[in-house]
Amino acid sequence: MSRRHILITGGSSGIGRALALRYAEEGARLTLFGRDASRLEAVARACRDKGATVETLRIDIQNRVGMAAAIEAAFSRAPIDVLFANAGVATGLSPGQVLEPAESVRATLAINVAGVFNTVEPAIIPMTSRGSGTIAMVGSMAGVRGLPFSPSYCATKAAVHSYAESLRGVLSPHGVDVSLIIPGFVKTPMSERTKSWQPGVMSDTRAAEIIVRGLERRKAVIAFPRFMFFALRFFTFLPPRLVDSVMLRFSADVPQTSEREAV
Ligand SMILES: NC(=O)c1ccc[n+]([C@@H]2O[C@H](COP(=O)([O-])OP(=O)(O)OC[C@H]3O[C@@H](n4cnc5c(N)ncnc54)[C@H](OP(=O)(O)O)[C@@H]3O)[C@@H](O)[C@H]2O)c1
Repeated sequence: MSRRHILITGGSSGIGRALALRYAEEGARLTLFGRDASRLEAVARACRDKGATVETLRIDIQNRVGMAAAIEAAFSRAPIDVLFANAGVATGLSPGQVLEPAESVRATLAINVAGVFNTVEPAIIPMTSRGSGTIAMVGSMAGVRGLPFSPSYCATKAAVHSYAESLRGVLSPHGVDVSLIIPGFVKTPMSERTKSWQPGVMSDTRAAEIIVRGLERRKAVIAFPRFMFFALRFFTFLPPRLVDSVMLRFSADVPQTSEREAV
């Protein structure tokens, strides 16, 4: 079997790193994007040790022109079979805080929304022209129903969900799959910064396994753990203020991102 080409943004940490290591086991050709050179190289080394061929690129996904060129270059090395728009940041509120700093909100919008568009757009024509490929976008349970701990993060993930759902219908007649990945709590540097009850928390390795299997089965939505997905979906049918009051019984401290708006 020929090596599959997998491109992952946010390949230097957490879920992206675990996906890279999982695909390395099948000897895939990996293209890993991230910003932290040493962590990116450490992941690349570990993947090469497992038999993968790895290219890395230090790039900020907010750089639209740079991302278009980088993804075009990746396609020219070998057609991309699976493209993960995974990189993202979290931001939120501490107990008692009512306003998220505008600079961290704008940075979160730029990375989690524009960054996903910058990743996905350059892949559409190469994949549809070839009539194959999968675009996997990483959303969040926070995108299923707004949570009173992280308003802007929830908004960015809801945008990703809507984009993935819309694009799925556009691209499927052209032979391209779009999958929306909806993780609950996964043990990564991102979730470790959040101080809250984390029901159903799982390792990044387990999350990567669920994602890879879901993509193999061409699932349109890969949501885990299932109980959390169904609970949040159920909440959307209940009176909104009732759900708000239930959620406010839980305490959460979600630190604001250290990312700042590029002005
Ligand atoms: N962990 C969870 O519980 C959880 C739950 C639901 C959804 N998610 C989503 O899963 C995805 C991965 O999160 P994670 O938990 O694996 O977090 P993580 O360990 O903090 O990793 C985030 C990754 O995104 C990259 N990244 C962030 N901003 C970037 C930028 N501007 N340009 C390029 N790369 C950037 C980081 O690269 P550098 O560090 O090299 O800059 C890093 O590789 C995110 O979209 C997140 O919202 C996570």
